[in-house]
Amino acid sequence: MATTGQPTTDATATLQDLAKRHLWMAFTRMGAYADAEVPVIVRGDGCYVWDEHGNRYLDGLSSLFCANLGHGRADIARAGAEQAERIDYFSTWSYAHPPAIELAAKLASLAPGDLNRVFFTSGGSESVESALKLARAYHKLTGHPNKTKVVAREIAYHGASLGALSATGIPALRTPFEPFTPGGVHVPSTNLYRRADGFDPLSLAEAVRDRILFEGPETVGAVIMEPVQNAGGCFTPPDGYFQRIREICDEFDVLMISDDVICSFGRLGTWFGAQRYDYVPDVITTAKGITGAIAPLGALIVSDRVAAPFMEGTEMFLHGFTFAGHPICATVALAAIDAYEREGILEHVRANEAPFRAMLESLRDIPIVGDVRGAGYFQAIELVKDRDTKETFDDDEAETLLRGFLSGELFRRGLVCRADDRGDPVIQLSPPLIAGPEQFAEIEAVLRPVLEEATRRMHLRGAVPRVGVRRA
Ligand SMILES: Cc1ncc(COP(=O)(O)O)c(C=O)c1O
Repeated sequence: MATTGQPTTDATATLQDLAKRHLWMAFTRMGAYADAEVPVIVRGDGCYVWDEHGNRYLDGLSSLFCANLGHGRADIARAGAEQAERIDYFSTWSYAHPPAIELAAKLASLAPGDLNRVFFTSGGSESVESALKLARAYHKLTGHPNKTKVVAREIAYHGASLGALSATGIPALRTPFEPFTPGGVHVPSTNLYRRADGFDPLSLAEAVRDRILFEGPETVGAVIMEPVQNAGGCFTPPDGYFQRIREICDEFDVLMISDDVICSFGRLGTWFGAQRYDYVPDVITTAKGITGAIAPLGALIVSDRVAAPFMEGTEMFLHGFTFAGHPICATVALAAIDAYEREGILEHVRANEAPFRAMLESLRDIPIVGDVRGAGYFQAIELVKDRDTKETFDDDEAETLLRGFLSGELFRRGLVCRADDRGDPVIQLSPPLIAGPEQFAEIEAVLRPVLEEATRRMHLRGAVPRVGVRRA
C-alpha cells in the first residue's frame, strides 16, 4: 500500500486505546481487535482515503456503497454550513422549510412515472421501515386491512431495524433477533449462476406470483426488491423480470417497492434502478448516495396514486422521524444532486462501466474466480472451489478464505472492498462514481495477486506457483 512514511504518534496510540475501550462498531467482531489495530480512517480525497499512519487506500466500496461523489467534498458540505446560518433545524412534522420543499420537488422531477410525493427519513432502514408501514396503512385506508405480508427475496438485505429485518432474507441476520414483525415471506433471488441450461429466468418472476397465491392475495400488501440485489453478490434481473413483477403486482393490488438504497444516484448509471431496467414501481426507497454520503438522509418517493388516500380530509400517515429531512442534510442533498448533474456523473458511469467490467472479466483466468456479475459501478466476483463444477466453499473454508486471508490482505495492500459470505463467497466492488481507468488498473493490481494467492492457499486445481518461490 502507498504510505507517506509518517511515524505513529502518541495521538494515534490514544485513538487506538479509546476505540478499543469505547467504540462499538456495527456488524463487527469486536473480539478480533483484542490484539489487532482498529483501522482508523482520518482523511479522504477523491477515490482515496488515508489511515492514521498515513497509509493510502483506494476506496473500492465508496465506503459503504455511498460516497458516490468521492471524498473530501467540502464544497458540498459548505452548502450545509451556509444553510445552518439561515435555519439550522426545524422539523417536518406539520412544518416545512425551503430545503425539504425544494429537495422533494427535485426528487419528484428525477423519479420515474408519477412518483411525485416525497417522505423523508434519516437513512436506508428507516426508508424501508417507512415503506412497509406505508403499504399496510395504504391497504387499510383502501379497504383491504388484511394485506399485511411483504414478499422479498432470499439473501436480500433491506436494513437492520426489526420491520426491515422481516423483509431481509439472510437467516444469520434474522435469527438472533426473532421474533419480529410478522409478514415477511421470501422467494428465490435472480442468481442464475448455478441454474441448469434451459432454465427459464422469468420463472423467477412467476415464483413471486406463486408465492402470492400460496399466501392468499388478500393477505399480501407489497413486494420489495432491489434493482440489483447486493447481498449474495450483485444479482442483476433477467430481461423482462421487473416488467412481469409489475404486472403481477397490478394483478393482485400489491404495492411494488423498489429498494434503491444502493441502486440510485448513479450507482447503475441512472438516477434510479427503475430507469436502468425500465419499470415504474409504486414506491422507491432511497438513502446513501442521495447526499453523496456527506450527510445522513433517506427518502420514500411515492406514486400519486398511493399517496392520494393520505392527502384527503382528516387522513394522515401516522409516522415520522425527528431528523428526517433535516435542513442541513436536505441542502447537502440538493448540492450533491447539483454536482451529479454539473459533473456529468451518470454519463461518466455509463461511459466507464464497460472498461470497469472488462477489468474484472480479465481475472477469470484465476481458478478461484467463478463468476463476475453486476451493473454500473456495482459489481461482484464470486469465488469458487472448482470453476468447472461451480462448487462453492463450505462454511469453514469460507471463514478461512474471507476472514482468514482476503479481507485483511486486500486492505493491507491498499484496497477497500468487501469480501462477503452472506450468500456464497464474493468480493464486492462499488467504487466512487468518479473512478476511471486509473483506479480500475489499481484495483486489478491488488486483486490479481491476492486472488492468485487465495487460489494457492485453498489448494485449488490450476493454482499457479508463486513467482520467485523455489522448490526445495
Ligand atoms: C438495499 C438496502 N436497503 C436498506 C439498507 C439499510 O440502509 P441503512 O444502513 O442506511 O439503514 C441497505 C444498507 O446497506 C441496503 O443495501
